[in-house]
Formats: sequence, structure tokens, C-alpha cells
Amino acid sequence: MNAPTTFYITTPIYYVNDVPHIGHAYTTVAADVLARYWRLRGRDVFFLTGLDEHGQKVQQAAAKAGIDPQAHCDKLAPQFQALWKRLNISNDAFIRTTDAQHKSVVQRYLKQLYDNGLIYKDSYTGWYCTFDERFWTEKDVADGLCPDCKRPVEKLSEHNYFFKMGQYQDRLIEHIEQHPNYIRPEPRRNEVLGFLTTQKLGDLSISRPKSRLSWGIELPFDKDYVTYVWFDALVNYISALEYLRPTPLQDHYWPASVHLVGKDILTTHAVYWSTMLMALDMKLPETIFAHGWWTVDGEKMSKSRGNVVDPNKMIDEFGADAFRYFLLREVPFGQDGDFSQEAMITRINSDLANGLGNLLSRTLTLIERTQAGRVPTQGKSRAADRDLEQSTVALLNDLLPRHLEQFEFNRALEAIWQVIQIANQYVDKTAPWTLAKHESDADQLRTVLYYMAETLRCLSLATYPFLPMSAQSIRTQLGISADFTTPLMKSKIEWGGLEAGTAIHKGTSLFPRIESKPQGAKTVSDTPTPPQPTSAAATPAPTTAAPQTSAPAAPAPVTPVQITIDEFMKIQLKTAKVLTAERVPKSEKLLKLQVSLGEGTEQRQIVAGIGKKYTPEALIGKTIIIVANLKPAKLMGIESQGMVLAAGDSEVRGLATVLEEVDPGTKVK
Ligand code: MSP
Repeated sequence: MNAPTTFYITTPIYYVNDVPHIGHAYTTVAADVLARYWRLRGRDVFFLTGLDEHGQKVQQAAAKAGIDPQAHCDKLAPQFQALWKRLNISNDAFIRTTDAQHKSVVQRYLKQLYDNGLIYKDSYTGWYCTFDERFWTEKDVADGLCPDCKRPVEKLSEHNYFFKMGQYQDRLIEHIEQHPNYIRPEPRRNEVLGFLTTQKLGDLSISRPKSRLSWGIELPFDKDYVTYVWFDALVNYISALEYLRPTPLQDHYWPASVHLVGKDILTTHAVYWSTMLMALDMKLPETIFAHGWWTVDGEKMSKSRGNVVDPNKMIDEFGADAFRYFLLREVPFGQDGDFSQEAMITRINSDLANGLGNLLSRTLTLIERTQAGRVPTQGKSRAADRDLEQSTVALLNDLLPRHLEQFEFNRALEAIWQVIQIANQYVDKTAPWTLAKHESDADQLRTVLYYMAETLRCLSLATYPFLPMSAQSIRTQLGISADFTTPLMKSKIEWGGLEAGTAIHKGTSLFPRIESKPQGAKTVSDTPTPPQPTSAAATPAPTTAAPQTSAPAAPAPVTPVQITIDEFMKIQLKTAKVLTAERVPKSEKLLKLQVSLGEGTEQRQIVAGIGKKYTPEALIGKTIIIVANLKPAKLMGIESQGMVLAAGDSEVRGLATVLEEVDPGTKVK
């Protein structure tokens, strides 16, 4: 069989009942990575995302906002589009189910099924969940609650139109069994098969009476009804090919290569969509991949909990690439994961700043200082050089394809960062700043610097799908074309693509380190700081390249940002005695302290991120140092009126205290 030349990838189309959140960003970023990767590999990619604008949820949200549903959709749609721009999502088309062309395709398919006797009218009595817009049977709702969302259900009886879904049960089982990649990952496939082989698949109600729901596509054969939102929404994957495709060929991209969906909407895709396609006599997609869900700081994400992660805020604070990286690095795709800002900061500092950013900056600094800013011609290569070459080439030609073809984003990133670590260790071992001191080592120095730069060129390819902006920056700084529109990975990557003599353009650091405070406040610093030993993935490596002639054996120290004495004096540091200490529920790190700033005087409540290092009991009675004039802030809903000083980076190593016994409330300066 010939290798496919196209790659059609879709995300779910998102309900416009609210602004986008991390769940939406997650699928869309994952799809973007695959789209970018396959473009690099030379496939003709069609990447579709968009909005699901009909149905009860949207109608209710519009009613709540006091506006007409279409106006509501028109107001929210740009927010999704703007977010995808900011996240550098490279979708080729954006579908909205209120597009006139989409509506007419849905109606055409409905009519086709109706004319072929695959849709019939019947009366139905069942338990209806308004939130999920679906009926449940008696045994599904034994406790009077929707088994899906746990909201109360109501008994409804109505006439509706039904799609003869049940008759496709055996064909669907057979298809899933014969196509191991149809539903992924494996446990989800087993779930669907388990359900299909043990329960009778019923027919699907595909209409809603207008008396109950008006915001939908009218049935072409009965104007008193609108289409069930899922029948409308799923069709987007093929209607888009009619009016949003970039090629004149109608079935150029069908069947889709991948539908990426969240685990909650697997049934609608694996069962409803598959049987709809069978009834329409269309090919089934190659893969439906269901990913896991994010919780936030260990809790379910919800508006009522107030913990919804806003992707725009993450981009503002950490940058699009860092957010993209975290989403795909932290958790195996397919499994549930927990989002915490602290975990993200740790990743940014250890992997991005200390790992990749450091490798680029030390390479360019050394080339700037020892080779007059031009990529040198490599000299004789040694075993260490060849090892680096081998790991890098294997990453591009073997590991990256293998993992991405299996949707193993985290493993692909692990493999990339393994090479970054090898490269940083190579620099440490070969110590180019020492080689630079002796003319006799000039040949080896050139080899080492060439290998470093060529590794970075290769890394720009490997990281591009995940970190498109950083990959472009790496190439610009290396002085090579940052144009990724050509399929740079169409054929196997050969070592040595970087031309000697290329003039580099050292720019700003790729990833500024984030200085995180125990209280959750954080500052971004642009000064490289020494590597931190907190994460398993941390790349232990010196962070600065040494200058050409006066090069010390070890990396040169870095000058920190300087402040004036007046600036320092604004910070009130005081000793404080810990009166009580307790853990903040559901947090591994946070402790709630009551501290005294002097007898008969002030007491403060401070929430400090020192709970991994200290038990509450170990702190009671201790004299510590606090920042006394920090604006109060809430951490996990608890007010903190100051900050405890501690040594350590993102992990606390020890509390700051005073040598002699002093009264609480004493000024520290
Ligand atoms: N409109 C339907 C999809 C129709 S596709 C033909 C829909 N929309 S949705 O906006 O409610 O959800 C879209 C996606 O967001 C789903 O894939 C869902 O799994 C995902 N997520 C919602 N919350 C999530 C998390 N907390 N974590 C990860 N993804 C989550 O369903």
C-alpha cells in the first residue's frame, strides 16, 4: 500500500456557550502539533477546527446573556479565533455550524437518509437530561439523575425522528475489530467494544420539536422539528470539505486521518458518527483518538469552583510556546492530568530555560566570541562528537516519527529533551571555553562548536511542531532560513546541513526563567541563572558560555539585575514567630501559618509553599523572616498577609531565620 499523501485532522467543534478554556486549548494544540509535523513530512494537510453553535446549551447561554443566539455566537466566535491565533494554531479552516453552507449539507444528508428509509418518526417516552440534551432509559437513571452529568432528569414523551442506528451494530463491531487503530488509545477501544458487544444498540433520536428547542437546523422533511445538535455537529467533518476545502477535489481529504476528541465525547464519535457514515455510504475515518481530561490543582475544573484555566492568561504570563509545551509534556495523551501553575513553572525553568534556551545561548555566545560570529568548519570528529550526531539523527529519523505516529506527544518531547541533555553534557565535557584558550585546540573547538550548532539546527526541526515560535527563533539566531512552509523533513535528515561560514544573529533568550515565590507570585527574569535540581528532566549544565581569551574553566558568573538601596528599603523584612501551622487541604505544598510580630501586637496569617519540606509541627515556635509589607493575596481561597523567606528555587531547601534569638517583629535588613 502506498503511504498516504494527505493528512486530514480535526478537533471537536466547541460549543459557544462560554469562552475557551484549557480543555479546548489542549485538543487544538495537539491537533496543531500533528498538522505541523505532517506538513514538515511533506503531506498535504487539512486541519479543521471550529464551533458548534446550535443546540440547547448555546440557546440557554444566549438567553442568559439576553441576546439572540446568532448574536451570541457572533460575539463569542472571535474569542476562539483570536485565541487560536495567539496560540499559533495553524488550522486551514474554521467552521461554524451556523454557516449557511453547512446547514444545507446537513439538510441534504438528512433528506438522503429519510428518502432511503433510514429515518422514521416514532413516539418516545424517556428520561431527558436538558444539560446533555439526551434521553436516558429507566435503568440508566435509577437515582433520578443523569448518569453523565448527575443533574436531575425529567420524564418526557414526544414524537421524534429516529435514525436506524441499531441496525449497524454488527458492522460497527466488525469494523472496530478489524481496524485496531480505529479507536484509540487501546483502553478506550476496549470500552467501546465492551459496550457494543454486551448491549443492544438502539436507534438514535435525531430531532427536537421546535416547541422545546428552536435553535437548530430545521428538518428538511418536517418544519416543526430541528436537528439534534450532534447530528448537525458531526456532519461538520464532511461539510467543511464541501465549502472550506483548499482543493477543488471534493473527496481529496476524506476519510479523515484523525478525529481528536475528549474522552467524554467518544461515544458520539465512535458510535453515532460511525453509523451515520455507514448509512451515508461513506468511508469511516482512520482514527478517532480520545484524550484525557485536565483537573486543576487536583480538582475538577468548573466555573462554580472558579478554577477554570484561561489559556489567554497562561499565554500572557508564560508565552504560547511554554503553555503548548506544558500541555503536551506533562501528561501522556489519553490519560487524565492535573494542571498546576507551579508544575508549569518548574517545567519552564528546567526544560525550556535551562535545557533548550541554555544550549542555544551558550552555543551562540561561544561562536560569537571565538569564531567572529560565524559557524566554523568542523575539524576532525571524535567519539563524543559522533555520539551526539547519532543521537540527534536518530531523534529526527526514528524516535520523533515513531512517537508522533502513535500520538505519544510526551514521549516525543522526552526524546527531544534527551538529546538536549546529551548536547548540554557534551558541552560540559568538551569544555569549549577551555579549548578556546589554546591555539593547539582550535581544530577541536571548531568541531565542538559546529556540532553544537548543527544539533540546534536539527532541534529546530524536532521542536517546530510543538514550539513553532521558538523553533523559528532558533533558526533565525543560527542565521538560517526560518521558513517552515517547505517540507523540511520530507526525506531522512542527514547530519551536516548547516553550512560553515553562516553568520549567526544572537538574539534574546528563548525562555526567560520564571522566579516563583512560595506565595504563588512570580517574576520573569531574563538573566540566565544556574540550573536547578528540582525536576527529573532538569538538564544539569552550566548556563553561560565563557568569553574567548580570558575564558575560565568554568562558566562565567552572571551579573544579576541590580537595584538601588532605596528600592531595597521599600521591602520590609521582619522576624516573626510561628504560633500555629496547619496544612491547606488538598495542597501538598501550602501551609497556613499564624505568626506573631511581637507580643501584644500584630498577628498575621501567611500561606506559604513550604509544606513539602516542613511538617506543620516542625515550625511551631520557630522564628522566621517574612516580607511584612507584601500586598495580601489569596492562595487557594485563603488570604495570605505576607511572605515567608526561604532558600531554594522552585523547591524549598531551607527557611531563612536568624542566628541569635531576637524578638518577633524585629526589622531585618
Ligand atoms: N460541541 C461538542 C463537540 C462536537 S464535535 C462534533 C462539545 N463541545 S465542548 O465545547 O463541550 O467540548 C469540547 C472538547 O473539550 C471535548 O473534547 C472535551 O473533552 C474537551 N474538554 C472539556 N473540558 C475538558 C477538560 N477539563 N480537560 C480536557 N478536555 C476537556 O463537546
